[in-house]
Amino acid sequence: MNWKVPLADVAVDDELLTAAREALASGWWSMGPRVQAFEEAFADFCGASHAVAVANGSAALHLALLAVGCGKGDEVVLPSLNFVAAANAVHHVGATPVFCDVVGPDDLTMDPADVEAALSDATRAIVVMHYGGFACRMDEIREVADGHRAAIVEDAAHAPGATYKGRLCGTLGDAACFSFFANKNLPVGEGGMLVTADDELASRLRLLRSHGMTTLTWDRQRGHAAGYDVVTPGFNYRLDEPRAAIGLVQLSRVREENDRRRAIASRYREGLHDRKGLTMPFGDSARHEASAHHLAVVLLPRGVERDRVREDLQRAGIQTSVHYPPIHRFSYYSRSDERPLPRTGEVAPRLLTLPLYGGLEDDQVEAVIGGVLAAVERG
Ligand SMILES: Cc1ncc(COP(=O)(O)O)c(C=O)c1O
Repeated sequence: MNWKVPLADVAVDDELLTAAREALASGWWSMGPRVQAFEEAFADFCGASHAVAVANGSAALHLALLAVGCGKGDEVVLPSLNFVAAANAVHHVGATPVFCDVVGPDDLTMDPADVEAALSDATRAIVVMHYGGFACRMDEIREVADGHRAAIVEDAAHAPGATYKGRLCGTLGDAACFSFFANKNLPVGEGGMLVTADDELASRLRLLRSHGMTTLTWDRQRGHAAGYDVVTPGFNYRLDEPRAAIGLVQLSRVREENDRRRAIASRYREGLHDRKGLTMPFGDSARHEASAHHLAVVLLPRGVERDRVREDLQRAGIQTSVHYPPIHRFSYYSRSDERPLPRTGEVAPRLLTLPLYGGLEDDQVEAVIGGVLAAVERG
């Protein structure tokens, strides 16, 4: 489908192509100096002590949960209005996901009071997800976590450069996980990053990323090591040099990308909020300023059929999506004794995600606003 306004898009230019070409031409393609430079630059960007590059955001979540000690018999609390990666990671460490509710229609992040209600003696970690680039209510969640000695893992896939009370997402928990999937604010194609202030956690993450081996092929290539030991059963979740080269360029652009996204989100708000029964969540202006604006989400009026609105927009060449079908409703994760999540149940069928990326032109933004209003007006 040739969309007039795609949901997301990447800008390809000479600087990116040159960076990728130089990485390929270097002849060293697996993890090496560019990955290390990307890690150092990303740690610097977040103001964190350590950044560990990995193959994707899902791998980051898997390793973070292992590194904070989640395993068989443990429970992990996370929002249901979320991408499924975190729930799958919980499953893969042998723990049980316990889903919690959102704050409400104006705040689609996890509700600290419901996080508290979801905790049990078996809770080992809380995975917060900064929905759409808006930071969770971290002070309250931290208080709840500390009271139960639960670790906090940030799923910051939507939130590079977002802040909470002046502090960057990625520095608000014990470990944070970023994704560089092609539609993200910092797109590489595939790629991820773990960030932590904890030296011991960082060492564990580095070991787990590469088979539990004490040295890397790159260390041996440079003559810095001759052999290796294996001290834990790890994975191959490494990033490679061409991706790190692209990541370094994209990192240098992410603040500008976020600013342009913020301007587009403001225009969507002006054009859509409180019109024809529509609302846009996260109305607070301080939160708007602090967000990375990964998603532009509207809440359709009750009784308006979302699929029909999406079909109208598709006919106009405008791509939309849904973030997210709640995880606790998927066949694998639904349970007969599930916790009631009434606010998630109420908002999820009404959520509609509109196109948002830095390269979106003003006339495309206006086309989306006009298209949404017309589609909603049809009822
Ligand atoms: C909230 C969230 N968490 C985790 C992920 C997983 O990241 P990746 O696709 O890089 O594995 C994504 C991205 O798709 C996401 O949106």
